[in-house]
Amino acid sequence: MNNTNMSWLNGLPKVELHLHLEGSLEPELMFSLAKRNRVGIPFDSIQAVKEAYQFNNLQDFLDIYYQGANVLLVEQDFYDLTWAYLLKCKEQNVIHVEPFFDPQTHTERGVAFKTVINGITRALDDGASKLAISSELILCFLRHLPQSSAFSTLEQAMPFLDQIKAVGLDSSELGNPPEKFSEVFSRARELGLLTVAHAGEEGPAEFIATAIDDLQVSRIDHGVNAFHDEALLQRLITTQMPLTVCPLSNTKLKVFDNMAEHTILKMLERGVCVTVNSDDPAYFGGYMTENFMALVEALDLSQQQALRLVENSINASFVSAQAKSKMMEKLQTYQ
Ligand code: ADE
Ligand code: ZN
Repeated sequence: MNNTNMSWLNGLPKVELHLHLEGSLEPELMFSLAKRNRVGIPFDSIQAVKEAYQFNNLQDFLDIYYQGANVLLVEQDFYDLTWAYLLKCKEQNVIHVEPFFDPQTHTERGVAFKTVINGITRALDDGASKLAISSELILCFLRHLPQSSAFSTLEQAMPFLDQIKAVGLDSSELGNPPEKFSEVFSRARELGLLTVAHAGEEGPAEFIATAIDDLQVSRIDHGVNAFHDEALLQRLITTQMPLTVCPLSNTKLKVFDNMAEHTILKMLERGVCVTVNSDDPAYFGGYMTENFMALVEALDLSQQQALRLVENSINASFVSAQAKSKMMEKLQTYQ
């Protein structure tokens, strides 16, 4: 594929399974919300914000990401954030999304759980009715906080369980292994929620295995560190455990030195159910189309491989078999 295929990739029907809504907060919206809410931010200009987005590792990024979220205060802010992301999806023909939100980032600042979820779900409903983008919402627990805080968050989510499909686990991976959250994930499963977890982004391959065994996840977020553990790789292939890989995120956070080193296509060719996602697009330089384009430029991604990556996302999504078939049809009729 060459650069003229940018428009082919943009028009390709896509599905996003790894997207933090707080990570889609563009500097322009951050500034306008800061003004609207009279919240101070430590930047003089949009340009200064963009220049600050240089990260050496995950923690570097998280420090700035949590700071950015301070401008989100009232329900309309969460609506505007989510709606802006959905408009971007429309532009790039992303037809189904399963975004994450981090309630603790907001409740710890005194913002009510219901303020957060009502704003998000109102936008997701409008996304379905006005933009024809379907969605399932995932509540992520912050793993740097204790399990007791995750339990309290799950308690606050109880009145809204019909609007939440799954729970996930994000934030600082090193020092916070999946088993720290075994009990709260078990409770979430009892309540009928599915589970996912970030694992093997900066953490060892072992965390991928414990997320599967202890948290009984349906997908692994990132999972790239499985590549050097042959037994685990075999297990992922045999079980078709999906990995929601985020190429631009991985190079921005120096999980890989550069995109040419990225192992996503090697895993695809080995038969791992890998998918392409944008993670925190406002911070990492691009949404879905840009992530696919980065693979074209550095790894010579073919159209056939791009189609297989989207097929994997459809298979790995949390929708009915009928909804999956409809998405597969859209993909198969795309030229
Ligand atoms: N929160 C937002 N993006 C994240 C990432 N890539 N890893 C862990 N936690 C996150
Ligand atoms: Zn993530």
